[in-house]
Amino acid sequence: MEVGFIGAGNVTRTIGHHLINAGHTIVVSNSRGPETLGEFVAELGPGARAGTKQQSAECDMVILATHWVNVPEALSGIDWQGRILVDATNAHMDSKPDLSLAGVNRSRAALKERTSSEIVAEMAIGARLVKSISNMPMSWIQDFSPNKPRTVLFTSGDETEAKQRVIELINSTGLVAIDLGSLRMGGAMHEIGAPLSGIEFHFVQRLHRR
Ligand SMILES: NC(=O)c1ccc[n+]([C@@H]2O[C@H](COP(=O)([O-])OP(=O)(O)OC[C@H]3O[C@@H](n4cnc5c(N)ncnc54)[C@H](OP(=O)(O)O)[C@@H]3O)[C@@H](O)[C@H]2O)c1
Repeated sequence: MEVGFIGAGNVTRTIGHHLINAGHTIVVSNSRGPETLGEFVAELGPGARAGTKQQSAECDMVILATHWVNVPEALSGIDWQGRILVDATNAHMDSKPDLSLAGVNRSRAALKERTSSEIVAEMAIGARLVKSISNMPMSWIQDFSPNKPRTVLFTSGDETEAKQRVIELINSTGLVAIDLGSLRMGGAMHEIGAPLSGIEFHFVQRLHRR
């Protein structure tokens, strides 16, 4: 599958690496243009290429990986109708995210009882929005070997087929996607500050009953 990224930082580098190892290709974009991304894609290898935001959006699915304050600009100028958009953002209200409890609580209060992905969905009109990737600090998934831990990335969304495709994509990398339901219900469980955000969680073993 070809996966686009809007944003070219920690999330894109990490998830891009997992995807490329699984045989996918990626198109990476930022706000400054493909010519600024040569080194970034060279580090990721031949499975990665730099593109415009539009080229990223035209991939089989696109992952939004910018800071919250940049989301409106990052989503602008694209016709999102029918596109699968994975929201990997966390809704920190400050340009330099304040990860303290007070900072997280302040950011959550600013959402006014909506989930952050519902707000993203309103900005990307027509997109088939799936929230995922955002619950996990990237520093916890830096093992790219075939024997890496089966780390859980929570997933939520209102569009069943789009969510299933994202789940399959994540599972193809050796990470594990767990579906927590709709954007409203799931997001409230795994977005920043919610009970299932920032928990290191691996699939280790499962009890089988016959
Ligand atoms: N880091 C983590 O461990 C982690 C984990 C889960 C979720 N998240 C969330 O994922 C998001 C990205 O985090 P990150 O750590 O990857 O951030 P980062 O390393 O700072 O990267 C952000 C990227 O966004 C780009 N950007 C800014 N404005 C843009 C625009 N208008 N259009 C396109 N690209 C734009 C920046 O490039 P230019 O300025 O050059 O355009 C930069 O490449 C955040 O919402 C964060 O909360 C982070």
